[in-house]
Amino acid sequence: MVLALYLVIQCMGIRMNNIVLIGMMGSGKSTIAKALKKEIGFDIYDMDFEIEKAQKTTINDIFKKHGESYFRKLENIMCQQMLLNRTVISTGGGIVLNPENIRLLKKMGRVVYLKGSVEVLYKRLMKQTENRPLLDPEQLKKQLEDLLVFRESLYEKSADVIIPIGDLSIDAVTREIIDNLIELGYKFE
Ligand code: S3P
Repeated sequence: MVLALYLVIQCMGIRMNNIVLIGMMGSGKSTIAKALKKEIGFDIYDMDFEIEKAQKTTINDIFKKHGESYFRKLENIMCQQMLLNRTVISTGGGIVLNPENIRLLKKMGRVVYLKGSVEVLYKRLMKQTENRPLLDPEQLKKQLEDLLVFRESLYEKSADVIIPIGDLSIDAVTREIIDNLIELGYKFE
């Protein structure tokens, strides 16, 4: 029954009422998802965590054993299969690399881009490169620059709302997201 309803909604092109967080590694998607859950009572769906759970291993191991393209396939399958409602979906930073993911996520709900500069992301990621197979602490700044040059326009074109995170607190980012979604006519019920 739920699946049937979901398929009807999909076919009619109606958007589901989830909130989808996108953005670079270190932009705070998982943290902000938790803060949003507290504020508006939505569930959380952390895609990386769900992939690790389903594969019974870490993201690092998936990259090591099977390579990045295998991980991207897992991400895409997850985008195709997610059946969620009133949920904050925290995506992996590379989710926008596949245009099909963007199309599917836009149907899932409002897409919010947590936009951070290289400097802000660098500061946050300096001590957090483990379990992030695309990052090497020795070359972090250059890697972030390269990734952002390629991804920035993808994030921007995918987003309904863009939140420049700067040095904003978790509370301030959360408030910004809620206010922006209300402005778009989003109903938190
Ligand atoms: C990736 C970001 C990671 C994880 C994987 C690849 C990326 O997620 O999905 O390491 O390509 O930017 P976070 O953005 O949650 O760190």
